[in-house]
Amino acid sequence: MCGIVGILGTQPVADDLVDALKRLEYRGYDSAGISTVENGVLGRLRAKGKLKNLQKRLNEAPLQGHAGIGHTRWATHGAPNESNAHPHMTDKVAVVHNGIIENFKALRDKLESEGAHFESDTDTEVIVHLISEELASGRAPEQAVHGVLAQLEGAFAIAVIFGGHDDLMIGARRGSPLAIGYGEDQMYLGSDAIALAPFTDRVSYMEDGDWVILTRSSATILDEGGQEVERKITKSFASAMLVDKGNHRHFMAKEIHQQPEVIAHTLGYYVDLTKNIVKIPDFDIDFKTLPRITISACGTAYYAGLVAKYWFERYARLPVEIDVASEMRYREAPMEPGGLALFISQSGETADTLATLRYCREQKQHVAAVVNVKESTIARESDAVLPTLAGPEIGVASTKAFTCQLTVLACLAIKAGRERGHISKDEEVELVTQLVELPRHISSVLKNEHLFEKIAHGLAHKRDVLYLGRGSSYPIALEGALKLKEISYIHAEGYAAGELKHGPIALIDEDVPVVVVAPKDDLFEKTVSNMQEVAARGGQIILLTDDQEAAENFNAASSFVVPKAHSFTNPLLFAVPVQLLAYHTAVFMGTDVDQPRNLAKSVTVE
Ligand code: F6R
Repeated sequence: MCGIVGILGTQPVADDLVDALKRLEYRGYDSAGISTVENGVLGRLRAKGKLKNLQKRLNEAPLQGHAGIGHTRWATHGAPNESNAHPHMTDKVAVVHNGIIENFKALRDKLESEGAHFESDTDTEVIVHLISEELASGRAPEQAVHGVLAQLEGAFAIAVIFGGHDDLMIGARRGSPLAIGYGEDQMYLGSDAIALAPFTDRVSYMEDGDWVILTRSSATILDEGGQEVERKITKSFASAMLVDKGNHRHFMAKEIHQQPEVIAHTLGYYVDLTKNIVKIPDFDIDFKTLPRITISACGTAYYAGLVAKYWFERYARLPVEIDVASEMRYREAPMEPGGLALFISQSGETADTLATLRYCREQKQHVAAVVNVKESTIARESDAVLPTLAGPEIGVASTKAFTCQLTVLACLAIKAGRERGHISKDEEVELVTQLVELPRHISSVLKNEHLFEKIAHGLAHKRDVLYLGRGSSYPIALEGALKLKEISYIHAEGYAAGELKHGPIALIDEDVPVVVVAPKDDLFEKTVSNMQEVAARGGQIILLTDDQEAAENFNAASSFVVPKAHSFTNPLLFAVPVQLLAYHTAVFMGTDVDQPRNLAKSVTVE
């Protein structure tokens, strides 16, 4: 997935394009480029790597066109080098593209057999040649693009400008998001409203199959068949301010430290703090008669769902089916009509999660989504939206969004338990009180952050690390392993502690640290037995617990003790030490913590 932007302006647009791309860098940062049209002539600058490399090139040789398109890339087809960077162009047309053209091979073979010369390994370049061919045969740009769209298969969003046309830009959306921004005698296209926030707050969202013909004074939106359609212009609340790191070295550090505040903020939305009971605005699912919940999400958001499964089953006796969205979307799972399908996504744009949502809707499920970006596609396509109030999350590794997702899901599980008669009024007050205590407990973990610097030394430069946990600590072990591998590039795996003896124990020796997430709950003694098995084989244990005595008595290589809380809220509390452990290991290893290699914040391709 990539970020795309387009501007029809009244001044040179290159700087504004770069500004918009900065806001889209979360979608990819393998390379970046812009193209403008100046007095009918297309110009282009591209650079491998982060946006600052493109900025440097622009400083040396500015582009002056008043109409332009820009792109920040997350490579799918073709290596992340300059020749594969967008825009792709001929002298007639320049194109930026987010998504995948699935039939590009067949199209490319055909174009090459007809004499087209390709300069890149990308799927995008077929669009450029197809449009150029249409233009060469005398078609107008609008007809050319419409004709080409009919030949493309896959999910994509594109923005196109044309040689010889200083006041024309065409955008199209199929699968990948694209928004139109309306300015004063200026028009914009962007992958999201955040990219357009410095220029306009008047935005309309294109629907699947839509394409749009823009001039500085008009936007004509058409459907796949070429019929004009209306799309509502809404006021966007995306902030024009670029988020900064404050006093922190990385966005990830800032976001870890924001957790007490944003969890409290989220609780303020879902809890009546005068009575310590749950109140969920705009959510009218009847949990009493609900047969089951189906949860689906990806990555860290999936692990939040896995914690929720433990909560819904234990506290509400409500059956939960959960699967990663990339599997669920193709499983053809039969679903009893009337169930609740719950999706969890920070960005609200993850392609697999969105596709699963659409599948579940076809299966006649009520669709609810826990999302951080309220204007996202997943939010817009859901019957009920449960916002997390984490604020913009910039670090690619999700931290505060995860704990805010857990906060929302905890409130939902309490509501379900109460309505189904498995949680009494007093128990509800007790559980909510425990949630309200959490920001204070997390702050106290953060005050001891310096201890993680030392523990991280024990992890840095190891080849493999195992994470173990039982019950609702198991998803936290999975999350800990994911955090470590994505930002430090150390291979890490999370296991249910009881699974160790069924295979992974073969890996244990003195070079494999084992991080054990072990709150003193009803499963603690079982986890201790698993730690003994590790210790007996020379494994180095890093113990994360809430029991000082256990930490002192158990012969761990290192340990960290979090404040004693309720077993219900422990997944939230223990999420923080696993984040800190990964963060400090990555800092020690000198990796790019906020923008780790090969990743992107929002995954809008399959
Ligand atoms: C890991 C991480 C990813 C995301 C996943 C889903 O730190 O951030 O695993 O959780 O790509 O993204 P969203 O939540 O935007 O759907």
